[in-house]
Amino acid sequence: MRNYLNLIKHTFDFDTPDFVVDNLELHYQGVPILPLIKQFGTPLRLTVLPRISDNIQKANQLFNDAIKKHNYEGTYTYCYCTKSSHFSFVIEEVLKNNTHIETSSTFDIDIVRNAYQKGWIDKKTYILNNGFKRTEYCKGVAELINSGFENCIPILDNMEEMKNYEKMVDKPFQLGIRLSTDEEPGVDFYTSRLGLRYKDVVPFYKDRIENNPKVSLKLLHFFNNSGIKDTVYFWSELDRFVHKYCQLRKICPTLEILDIGGGFPIKQSLAFSYDYEYMTDEIISTIKGVCEKYEVPVPHIFTEFGSFTVGESGAMIYSVLEQKKQNDKELWYIIDGSLITQLPDTWGMNQKFIMLPINNWGNEFNQILLGGITCDSMDYYNSESHASKLTMPKFKKGAKQYIGFFNIGAYQESLGGYGGIQHCLVPAPRHVIVDRDANGNLRSRLFRDEQSSNSMLKLLGYYG
Ligand SMILES: Cc1ncc(COP(=O)(O)O)c(C=O)c1O
Repeated sequence: MRNYLNLIKHTFDFDTPDFVVDNLELHYQGVPILPLIKQFGTPLRLTVLPRISDNIQKANQLFNDAIKKHNYEGTYTYCYCTKSSHFSFVIEEVLKNNTHIETSSTFDIDIVRNAYQKGWIDKKTYILNNGFKRTEYCKGVAELINSGFENCIPILDNMEEMKNYEKMVDKPFQLGIRLSTDEEPGVDFYTSRLGLRYKDVVPFYKDRIENNPKVSLKLLHFFNNSGIKDTVYFWSELDRFVHKYCQLRKICPTLEILDIGGGFPIKQSLAFSYDYEYMTDEIISTIKGVCEKYEVPVPHIFTEFGSFTVGESGAMIYSVLEQKKQNDKELWYIIDGSLITQLPDTWGMNQKFIMLPINNWGNEFNQILLGGITCDSMDYYNSESHASKLTMPKFKKGAKQYIGFFNIGAYQESLGGYGGIQHCLVPAPRHVIVDRDANGNLRSRLFRDEQSSNSMLKLLGYYG
């Protein structure tokens, strides 16, 4: 029969525990979505917390297996890149897994302080500080170090930054340096603005750190904007990075951490295929191979996965409010939310997410365009990562059609803004958290109701 379920089954190997169709309704990560819609309504932002811990454990397992296989004499440490999602329940879940933190802004330091007060971290937790830092950010970092966070390691984005710590930190401290990567062909610039140039690192070390009793260089960092991919580009950048580590390690005995940044991919298409095991294995064997050539000890490996930590825990659920046929070919499904404001990656960088109907999987299907509720003509979504068109179940006027965007847990609120002023004053959606109770059963709770008109008008100066 030509129904939506068969279409998907014939197009994909639709056999993933993340997406299960039961009784012609979708379950995401084991959570039946329709009952949540009935309870909380739409638009609905969903976070399925257990997925965060599952992914962290998966990465730990992958790296530790590769370390064992290659008799690699270093360890693996998982840091979470807070800018992917700053929500307290995300940070809390992340830190249940013996993980560490990577910060990128002044206010992140307050999140670290808060996590410490709550007992989620202790003073041995690694706090890696990245980003271009204004004085306030450096001050926050220095205060952490001065107050006993013994593994707080500022990572220099430029050479000037070090003067701040020399001035503000009142004891010997550890330092990291970020190396600037060359970008993939096709990017508008050749070398990233973030980090120090390769050729400056050794002279900088000799000039400013080697004989400086207050500073020890502990970590080298790089972040490859294209992510950890099996491409000649990624492997050659990694190789170049490890070579620099080894040259520096020859003259710098305190250097012992190689931070390879973020970039583990997540499922953003039902056709996604990525060999995590192969990639981890290759990373470890590449690093070991280069270190052997230089006869230097292998480094401990740190990562700062953002998307991988939190991306697959999130969904955004909408109702289709109206079907509009604007010409013979183009049928619009208008949703009760906005792609521009709630899923800004779809608009700003043409990002595709997994998009599926929640109900009506037994219905026939048609090709559609998805329209957001703002009056901006660019507030639309019209293709999937595997196909140049969108297909959704047909439904009759008066019936309900719900749709979901999945694995959207990273960066969407950080980029779109949360609880502020949005295009056409579209409110931040109701947000529900799913986690497990003591018996391992899934349960849901409301984190925050839909943003009110009051909160926006107040921000805009109408009252209070
Ligand atoms: C320095 C640094 N580390 C880690 C990350 C996280 O990257 P991802 O979300 O791809 O894992 C980013 C993302 O921009 C970054 O800039």
